[in-house]
Amino acid sequence: MKLAPTPRGSRLVSLGAYRPRRVVDNTEICTFIESSDEWIQQRSGIAERRWAADDETLVGMAEAASRQALAGAGLTGEDIDLVLLATMTSFSTTPTAANLLQAALGTRGGAVELNSACAGFTYALALADQAIRAGNARNVLVVGAERITDIMNFSDRTTMFLFGDGAGAVVVSAADEPGIGPVAWGSWGEQSEALGVLPLLSDVARGLATERPLLFQKGQSVFRWAVTEMPKTAAKALELAGLKAEQLAAFVPHQANIRIIDAMTKYMKLPEHVVVADDLRHTGNTSAASVPLAMEQVLSSGRATPGDLALLVGFGGGLSHAAQVVTLPTLGPAGASRLPDPAPLAS
Ligand SMILES: CC(C)(COP(=O)(O)OP(=O)(O)OC[C@H]1O[C@@H](n2cnc3c(N)ncnc32)[C@H](O)[C@@H]1OP(=O)(O)O)[C@@H](O)C(=O)NCCC(=O)NCCS
Repeated sequence: MKLAPTPRGSRLVSLGAYRPRRVVDNTEICTFIESSDEWIQQRSGIAERRWAADDETLVGMAEAASRQALAGAGLTGEDIDLVLLATMTSFSTTPTAANLLQAALGTRGGAVELNSACAGFTYALALADQAIRAGNARNVLVVGAERITDIMNFSDRTTMFLFGDGAGAVVVSAADEPGIGPVAWGSWGEQSEALGVLPLLSDVARGLATERPLLFQKGQSVFRWAVTEMPKTAAKALELAGLKAEQLAAFVPHQANIRIIDAMTKYMKLPEHVVVADDLRHTGNTSAASVPLAMEQVLSSGRATPGDLALLVGFGGGLSHAAQVVTLPTLGPAGASRLPDPAPLAS
């Protein structure tokens, strides 16, 4: 007797996105820190970003994006065997935000939250592909969601203009033809002091610190690491997929800084026809949500089409990184991306 065969591969079927209502431009940023629109755009490429309001919770935004992805795939929660939620701004140790998302969507399979900071979505995508190939799931919901404003130091001029909030989700399903290439991933924990959240929750728990944990970074260290190492990660993912840059239709890197994206594009000698996502101009850096939101940007603008080959690269805190080539999904119906109704008030 033989075990049942497992799928040969998996692919991204459909995509959903949630962008918070409030648009914050650089003029408003300059009411928090001493800076200028010109400086911010020149050093980062960011013109505006979205900040979540109180009703735009982490799980609510994740649910809105997920519902759009599910509608696009013609699936309901019951069809999902595994929910993987990538985030670094979930503050509930248990239940995790993944448990709450699973309950909201009515899925019954596994649900796990994972944190690889800005690389979380591309890590989760690789794990979804592997779960499907191993025969442990047929449909996986992969979500990247962040409320970075919850950990933002509004007076830190080296970080606060870069970041925004939002959520993106994809349905990944078993496929005869692989639509997700091998992952090139890694971690540089030795350089983890370059970006993080302080004080540590363990210090707060032991009474060694009382302040609220906030994001900090050594901008130049992160920048140097990203422009030196991320082009190599991108090139490695291409090589693992057995592809050349000219075979790509789109390049969708983590939306951290336009100068980092430009450096990667140059290193890989991307030909003119390759569409380079620059969603950060209007969305900022949304950490684990940035890659799916940037995929949504290239698809909704019509610059890339479903089925096109795209190279995804996630990188950031940790310092972690993960990259893979995928075939782009379809966009779920935009009307399906709605915040859940507010919970009825307790009587
Ligand atoms: C944050 C970042 C945009 C800063 O740009 P930079 O060119 O490295 O800027 P520096 O820190 O060298 O500062 C240069 C000058 O600008 C000033 N400056 C810093 N922040 C400023 C701001 N918000 N507005 C105006 N001036 C600012 C500094 O005081 C410094 O002035 P000086 O030359 O008179 O001393 C850049 O380092 C960066 O993007 N790093 C990567 C960050 C990132 O992507 N993090 C997330 C990874 S997931």
